[in-house]
Amino acid sequence: MKSTVPGPTYREMLHPELLPPGIRRQALAGCAHELDPINLFNITWRCPDGLIRHIVLPKELTGVDANIVVLVGRHFPSGSHKVGPAYATLMEGELAGEIEPGVHTVIGPSTGNFGIGTAYVSHLKGYAAMVIMPEGMSKERYQRIQQYGGGLDLTPGSESDVILVLERTEEYKKDSRNKVLAQFELLPNYRFHRYVTGRSAIEAAHPYGNGRVAAFVSAPGSAGTLAAGDEIKAYFPEAVVCALEPKECSTLFNNGRGTHRIEGIGDKMVTLIHNVLTTDYVATIHDDDCVVGLELLERQLPLVESLLRMPPDSLQSLEGVFGVSGVCNILGAIRMARHLKFGPEDNVVTVATDGFDRYPSVLADLQKRGGPSDPGTRSAAFEEVFRGGNRENVLDLRPGQQKRRLFDYKEAVWSGFGYSRSYLAQMESQDFWDAQYERIGEIDRTLEAARKL
Ligand SMILES: Cc1ncc(COP(=O)(O)O)c(C=O)c1O
Repeated sequence: MKSTVPGPTYREMLHPELLPPGIRRQALAGCAHELDPINLFNITWRCPDGLIRHIVLPKELTGVDANIVVLVGRHFPSGSHKVGPAYATLMEGELAGEIEPGVHTVIGPSTGNFGIGTAYVSHLKGYAAMVIMPEGMSKERYQRIQQYGGGLDLTPGSESDVILVLERTEEYKKDSRNKVLAQFELLPNYRFHRYVTGRSAIEAAHPYGNGRVAAFVSAPGSAGTLAAGDEIKAYFPEAVVCALEPKECSTLFNNGRGTHRIEGIGDKMVTLIHNVLTTDYVATIHDDDCVVGLELLERQLPLVESLLRMPPDSLQSLEGVFGVSGVCNILGAIRMARHLKFGPEDNVVTVATDGFDRYPSVLADLQKRGGPSDPGTRSAAFEEVFRGGNRENVLDLRPGQQKRRLFDYKEAVWSGFGYSRSYLAQMESQDFWDAQYERIGEIDRTLEAARKL
């Protein structure tokens, strides 16, 4: 590896307290200077005091007995946990000698947050970056990418038009000076989430209920985050993993395809890095329930508190924590806890990928579209959003014919991008995923030997 700006190993992202003390001190001080490269060492789910950043949703809000534990992603550098896979993919590319500063431009195919993470990490490591993403995403996303010096190449459509992004990416690949951080295809995304997010989820849940994880719930975009479920299952074999999809684009549910408003998820495909073997359920959530839910949590907390007969300000800690997909995840967690009849001993873990900072424009649009606008319609909306959902929206993906359907869908998408049948067939075995995961030790040792701290 040529000399590059150093960053953390996988182990240090899970345990930043293991960093050399001088680096750790500098990294904590560096939080105040977002564009200081030392912030690469702040890519972690942990607070400065070592605790995993999470909240447990009040039971008055969820209406279920289970503990809903939400990992909070907005404090990652660049404002979402997607910076983790972006860093890991670039770091592994550098270690393999495939990506060099001054030689290569980094390409980030994305629906926004991975692109923001790509632009951010590239800036810190001294690369030019180009983000390819749909033109219909929240305007706050484009602003962030430009703020980090990233270029933008916009493809037609919105969230569910990711295939067009992948097709445009193929054009960039023809020039060997471009290197793609292919989040939908490359295994660093799997490794980061299985190891860093998975173990963080297990630790976050430990103080609650029976200390185990009964379910992990996540709405997949690249399906990287879902890989946390593989680690959770390795620790707690009885745990179930549930993927969430927009009702309007129910690809895993029933091969459905459509447009929707939950930015970051529901990309009309089974991604290459989705280990469908370990996904037990899929549940669909109406997209506008998530947008309306966000409006209630972000702008109408006093009303929600009064509906739930909670003292004023008791929900204040939720402010700023969620984006639209975060609300999707908590609605899915609540509905699965109800569906699976979980009790007070059971912990359901999910994530809030990013925070509210990138969605004011989405709420402005909701108002324009005539969303709930007075206490009466908002109370009815609360009931529908937080207490709604029914059995028909949940599908058990464990039967063999469901796995086959998802393998076939994956093959239909990815053989079109040049992946061989034999590679795709290997992905039908858990051994493939475990072997990918086990590479972490060797990657960390190579990085430690190559970097100068
Ligand atoms: C806001 C948001 N939520 C959820 C996701 C899905 O995460 P993953 O790609 O790990 O499945 C993304 C991915 O970009 C996102 O930006």
